[in-house]
Amino acid sequence: MTERDVIARLIDVSIGFPANDGAVDTVVDRLSLTIRAGERIGLIGASGSGKSLTALSLLGLVPPPGVIVGGSVEIQGTDILSDSVSNQERLRGGTIGMVFQEAEAALNPVMTIGAHLEEMIRRHRPTETGRWRRIAVDLLEKVDLEPIRTLKSHPHRLSGGQRQRALLAIALAGDPDLIIADEPTSSLDVLTQARMLGLLDNLCRERALALLLISHDLGVVSSLVDRVVVMLAGAIVEEAQTQDLLEAPLHPYSESLVTSARQTGSSKTHPMGHPKSQSGCAFARHCPRREPECEQNLPDLIVLNGGGAVRCPIVAAEVDQ
Ligand SMILES: Nc1ncnc2c1ncn2[C@@H]1O[C@H](COP(=O)(O)OP(=O)(O)O)[C@@H](O)[C@H]1O
Ligand code: SF4
Ligand SMILES: [Mg+2]
Repeated sequence: MTERDVIARLIDVSIGFPANDGAVDTVVDRLSLTIRAGERIGLIGASGSGKSLTALSLLGLVPPPGVIVGGSVEIQGTDILSDSVSNQERLRGGTIGMVFQEAEAALNPVMTIGAHLEEMIRRHRPTETGRWRRIAVDLLEKVDLEPIRTLKSHPHRLSGGQRQRALLAIALAGDPDLIIADEPTSSLDVLTQARMLGLLDNLCRERALALLLISHDLGVVSSLVDRVVVMLAGAIVEEAQTQDLLEAPLHPYSESLVTSARQTGSSKTHPMGHPKSQSGCAFARHCPRREPECEQNLPDLIVLNGGGAVRCPIVAAEVDQ
């Protein structure tokens, strides 16, 4: 892979919120992530671990009063944090299509689905504006929505599953290279969930799209992605090929997720606190392998000789022996 294959890259990104004492509470801590063309990555972690903010930072959309306090965000080689707002907008939608966690909030309630699609096509594919309707109908068919009725519908007229699929069609309308899907199925029933995941899978394959699939449930993402990134309390604790993670998770936190996925078919994560609320390893209080030094300093993310990375010096030393 060359640098040209890189679609998006976060380098040591930290995100914080102002605290009462005038300081900043860090909620994402020096996070680095590279997404290459056609690659499918699962971002897993408990609710509150920083997954959505990480995804939003890729689009330069961290909601105020949240702020990116360190690091850089590159989209196709451009540092978007120092770039003009108009270029950020071009990259957002044109390079990266986002399916937001809250489909209802992501859509404008007074605009029809057709108007949303038309706007995306006008903005990101201006030469094709004249045939926006044809493109929109094709996209709605692709996501299994009845096109003519859906074009005229306002978001509140659609069911939760239909809204998620409409959001996916809108994300695809900008002809992006990367789709970020943030918990795209968490509000859906099991059957509707499976349908949405099947659609994502097919569309990514057909269009050779890269995918960043975010979930608090390892069971949901593992069948769709090549690589899994596990987050805990604002930091990456393990990165591994999906198969390796499922067969031999390294970080004790990943191990607990895999064990519960094996037992129940689903590994729902539980909130674990934030980077600032403890000084040492964020998993120390729950870790069966804890040593006294684990509670002193946050361990580094250690890149392993055989590929992958783990934020635990004890496990890393065993693996790289
Ligand atoms: N508006 C906000 N004000 C203060 N803290 C926030 C705000 N939004 C998010 N956070 C903090 O950032 C953390 C990470 O949020 P988020 O990225 O949404 O987590 P996830 O998507 O993994 O559930 C949350 O646990 C919360 O503490
Ligand atoms: S650093 Fe210590 S507490 Fe943290 S995962 Fe490793 S062994 Fe467990
Ligand atoms: Mg979230």
